[in-house]
Amino acid sequence: MKENYLQEMFTLEGKVALVTGAGRGIGQVVARDLARAGADIAIFSRSGADETVKLIESEGGKAVSIIADCTKEDAVREGMKKILEVYGKLDIVVNNAGVCYHKGIFEASVEEFRECLDINLTGEYIVAREAARVMIDLGIPGSIINIASISGRIVNIPQNQAAYNASKAGVMHMTRSLAVELVDHNIRVNSISPGYIATPMSVDPNFVEPELLEAWKPLMPMHRMAKPDELCGAIIWLASGASSYTNGVDIVIDGLYTAI
Ligand SMILES: NC(=O)c1ccc[n+]([C@@H]2O[C@H](COP(=O)([O-])OP(=O)(O)OC[C@H]3O[C@@H](n4cnc5c(N)ncnc54)[C@H](O)[C@@H]3O)[C@@H](O)[C@H]2O)c1
Repeated sequence: MKENYLQEMFTLEGKVALVTGAGRGIGQVVARDLARAGADIAIFSRSGADETVKLIESEGGKAVSIIADCTKEDAVREGMKKILEVYGKLDIVVNNAGVCYHKGIFEASVEEFRECLDINLTGEYIVAREAARVMIDLGIPGSIINIASISGRIVNIPQNQAAYNASKAGVMHMTRSLAVELVDHNIRVNSISPGYIATPMSVDPNFVEPELLEAWKPLMPMHRMAKPDELCGAIIWLASGASSYTNGVDIVIDGLYTAI
């Protein structure tokens, strides 16, 4: 094996990565693993992400938690200023913050529909735009990774979640659109579409009815949900120079869920 081959190909050393909604769930694990790959981490969250910062620091990494609601343009701009104050640059964004409601068309209010789109789609747009401004100003070749979902490709059953599904379909096409728009600025934009991943959003009885967990089991060809860690290899690859010609694609990581 060639010495340092993998290290040189995938290292994020010297890079600064922003992960949104990283106080728990997928975002927390992604932030930890980007730090393990060498990146200094910034987190945008609505109520602080001290636990994630401690986790990263306990492993010798660097992280800063910034209060920023991703749907608020001013808060996101202020958050970007804070990243520049702390680290002086930004190379990688993982647009992860999101919400899901299981409500049908006659149960969800229009406000709830709008809120879901606002957080999952408009929030990712605002963060991508403000990050791109910073990258372009500093002449940094950036990588933006949007978290979409298989729900943007198929309709999950048996729960009704039209707002979530629509928001994630939007994330995928926004990803391709922004990739084309930002290509001459050397900013790549890709998305990841996870299947069911075990996080508070998908297993916590406060968020998901236990009957649903039972109903999902026979639909999973690999007979289990993924752990958040199982997304990190692809995210590190998309963040690194190893994916330098990968742009505007959506990568499905769903344990075959959408194959059958
Ligand atoms: N868990 C799954 O099965 C699954 C599958 C496919 C896609 N996803 C997507 O992965 C991402 C992370 O999901 P998760 O399962 O870790 O969920 P989660 O609920 O555990 O975490 C989401 C985080 O986003 C934060 N957040 C929500 N709105 C925000 C806002 N406006 N500004 C800042 N932070 C905000 C929440 O506070 C929370 O910490 C979401 O985009 C979700 O849609 C999850």
